[in-house]
Amino acid sequence: MPVTENAIDTSAPRPAESRKRAEPCSIVIFGASGDLTVRKLIPALYHLFKENQMPPSFRVIGFARREKTDDSWRQELRAALDKFSRTKPVDDKVWADFSKNISYCQGDITEAPAYGKLEKMLASFGQAPLRENLLFYLATQPSQFGEVVQQLHKAGLLHKSGGPGWQRIVVEKPFGHDLDSACTLNQELTRFANEQQVYRIDHYLGKETVQNILMFRFSNSIFERLWNRDSIDHVQITVSEKLGVGGRGGYYEEAGALRDMVQNHMLQVLALVSMEPPVSLEAEAIRDEKVKLLKSIRPLTPADVTKQVVRGQYFAGVVDTEPRPGYRQEAKVKSDSNVETYVALKLFIDNWRWSGVPFYLRTGKNLPSSASEVRIQFRPTPHVLFAAVCGELDQNAIALRLQPNEGIYLRYNGKVPGTTLGVRPVRMNFSYDSEFGAYTPEAYERLLLEAMLGDATLFIRRDEVETAWQIVDSVRKGWEGKSLSNREFYAAGTWGPVAADDLLAQGGHLWHEPQVGK
Ligand code: BG6
Repeated sequence: MPVTENAIDTSAPRPAESRKRAEPCSIVIFGASGDLTVRKLIPALYHLFKENQMPPSFRVIGFARREKTDDSWRQELRAALDKFSRTKPVDDKVWADFSKNISYCQGDITEAPAYGKLEKMLASFGQAPLRENLLFYLATQPSQFGEVVQQLHKAGLLHKSGGPGWQRIVVEKPFGHDLDSACTLNQELTRFANEQQVYRIDHYLGKETVQNILMFRFSNSIFERLWNRDSIDHVQITVSEKLGVGGRGGYYEEAGALRDMVQNHMLQVLALVSMEPPVSLEAEAIRDEKVKLLKSIRPLTPADVTKQVVRGQYFAGVVDTEPRPGYRQEAKVKSDSNVETYVALKLFIDNWRWSGVPFYLRTGKNLPSSASEVRIQFRPTPHVLFAAVCGELDQNAIALRLQPNEGIYLRYNGKVPGTTLGVRPVRMNFSYDSEFGAYTPEAYERLLLEAMLGDATLFIRRDEVETAWQIVDSVRKGWEGKSLSNREFYAAGTWGPVAADDLLAQGGHLWHEPQVGK
């Protein structure tokens, strides 16, 4: 029977649609009056409900200090949803059905009676799973994690070993500010919960395209065979943002780009791009490989940091015709701050696959475009054949466009039509939107669903977070006592400091601008 080349079954169900449903449960959000609840969590739950992916019965409880009634909180959430929902307008009927499941529990996180109140509220829901299957979302300061889990344990709502139902704790970043503080947080959380009950969020892992990195690599023999030092010259990972620090100056002064973006999102992307194939798609198998990879990143001594890491800080400039102040002029930022709003690193992975291949990572605020991309740059072909006629040939590349215009493109050389031997780069482009239609769930939708299902694949394990901090701490150690040099400042609206270009020039490389177009 001849095989029809076009036989791609585009009607195959999406995996989420064919998965088992999450069990009935209650989701308790601590720190419910914060920004995260209105911007991300409630919109995500609303969309899961709309798409019929929530458990058959569920409750959402907001736990916070301010006085509010169920009704006033629902009204507040509805107003915010109108603003932040990814689909507009908000469906009134869906909202009415969804919001019946929302309640508010007023209480102080540090006081036992508040947890008694929470316990009573859960009991009032009647059904056993709604008071026993509990997802605790800690959208609080990390310094409060320990207190919350202890109080939950005392109130009999959190059982470490067995007990009725299941209880899980979801925690947000920043998870510590260095290795020591992350270890302390881990100890505090695991005093009253098992590691298997702790779900550490990195919202990049909830992005479809980030998840697709593993599919792309391991389900395509044509690419996986080339995915090593024999074929790959170097890799560039760029996460650029047009936004400046804006109203987050206070947080940023403590964090900086290294802690804010590299410790988590960028090292996660690096791990997925470069890890070995896991033995299965189980959470532990994937996380084992990621940790192994992170551990094989060559440690950086202070001398290496000087050569392989570049910081940057923006001064006043223009982004898309909009004037932007310099970082030192932003609210809550010291006028002589040395905090980095940009960082670029050259890392090496000391294993068999990647020996000698540089991995360049860069991220920054107030850059010319908002885009996240992984660019795999292949080795040049032997030059002799075309050199005389065509000059320097473009090197093949694959770009994984993580956002926006999610997709993948392959760049290779093709003959320019005509009687002469002209060669120039051409592109093959895969776009998520054109292939699958506009299916762009927010990362938080996927992450909340996975946490309800009890699948920890997209969350960060304790040893992962600690290994990532070791890398970041070694960089910070190299920066100790050093101020930014002149070559480390950049005007808002440009592609970062000259020092970052110098970093690539050492290896004969150039940064490639991420492909933002369709
Ligand atoms: C957050 C950082 O974790 O990620 C922010 O704290 C950053 O500073 C954001 O802007 C970027 O996320 P995204 O999904 O917009 O790429």
